[in-house]
Amino acid sequence: MTAFARNQWYVAAYAHEVGRELLGRTVLGEPLVLYRTREGTPVVLHDRCVHRRYPLSEAPTRLDGDRVVCGYHGFTYDPTGTCVAVPGQKRVPRTARVPSYPVVEQDSLVWVWIGDPARAEPRAIPRAAHLDSPGWVTVRGMEPIDCDYGLLVDNLLDLSHETYLHGGYIGTPEVAETPITTEVDEGAGIVRVSRHMDDAECPPFYAESTGIQGRISRRQDIEYHAPCLYLLHSRVAPVGVLPAADGSDPDGFHTEITYAITPSADGKVYDFWAVSRDWATDDAGVTEFLRKNNHTVVMQDVVALNLLQRTLGTERTGYQELSINIDTGGLAARRILARLAEEGAGAAEPVAGAR
Ligand code: FES
Ligand SMILES: [Fe+2]
Repeated sequence: MTAFARNQWYVAAYAHEVGRELLGRTVLGEPLVLYRTREGTPVVLHDRCVHRRYPLSEAPTRLDGDRVVCGYHGFTYDPTGTCVAVPGQKRVPRTARVPSYPVVEQDSLVWVWIGDPARAEPRAIPRAAHLDSPGWVTVRGMEPIDCDYGLLVDNLLDLSHETYLHGGYIGTPEVAETPITTEVDEGAGIVRVSRHMDDAECPPFYAESTGIQGRISRRQDIEYHAPCLYLLHSRVAPVGVLPAADGSDPDGFHTEITYAITPSADGKVYDFWAVSRDWATDDAGVTEFLRKNNHTVVMQDVVALNLLQRTLGTERTGYQELSINIDTGGLAARRILARLAEEGAGAAEPVAGAR
């Protein structure tokens, strides 16, 4: 099981999911309830009432203005988690509060910090500006997967699986055949994996959406900001257009594929996925095609990873993996995740009343 790195930012939800309804999510094993104040500020509280542990994200718990009224006996919490009213008595016990968590809304994502709040630095959150920028159109979704989040990191850092698992959608023979280059910035916790194909079959995903006929140049440049944000800069163009010799942003169809990998609990992960494009932006047909097609691709991974987790669960401990060149990025990511988890290991655990 891949250890959790607690002192890190994680995507708990898309901005559009957080509103005036109470939303329940679990991040790093912490049950959370999310909502927005009337002014629009996102709030994240521990999702257990301090009285008898009723989940605050569950009906008939409700919002009263900016306050959460527990649906069991009416304990009422303000956005800081402080209990401001209890039934049957005027005096509210001093210890009646639930933890609240640092939260930042950026690039249409709601980021939460589960670890030591004193170490929460919003500037450390990696950017994904294309998700919320004029000139870009994004399709997105989220799938929960019953697997160790490390398996999803492995999956995304090695795209050679596209040829086999996603054949007929995004995979062609050239993806698995073309060697990768890997760069690791250990200090910043960033892994970059690139695969540049000069003359490749155009997979249906791009042939149908871009209208390119014939073979393509195709670039996949991965930038993984451990632990949560994964960016895949994808470029395709008819053969000969890529790459631009001067290293400038080459012509062609430029697509940003974003994942947020958020460990939910042991053996569970939220797979936030998005596909953004700056071409054919007013073509609703292309938008629908990419939404449907990418959802299918994501579900192929979901099915495979659910299966893999179940399979690994039946293995005797101490089995040996066999890694090859394509695994270089994934192995680097594992190293970084292990270090980040170790750095957070001594951090304060959240305690009711400590925030
Ligand atoms: S469990 Fe919430 S008020 Fe009793
Ligand atoms: Fe995949």
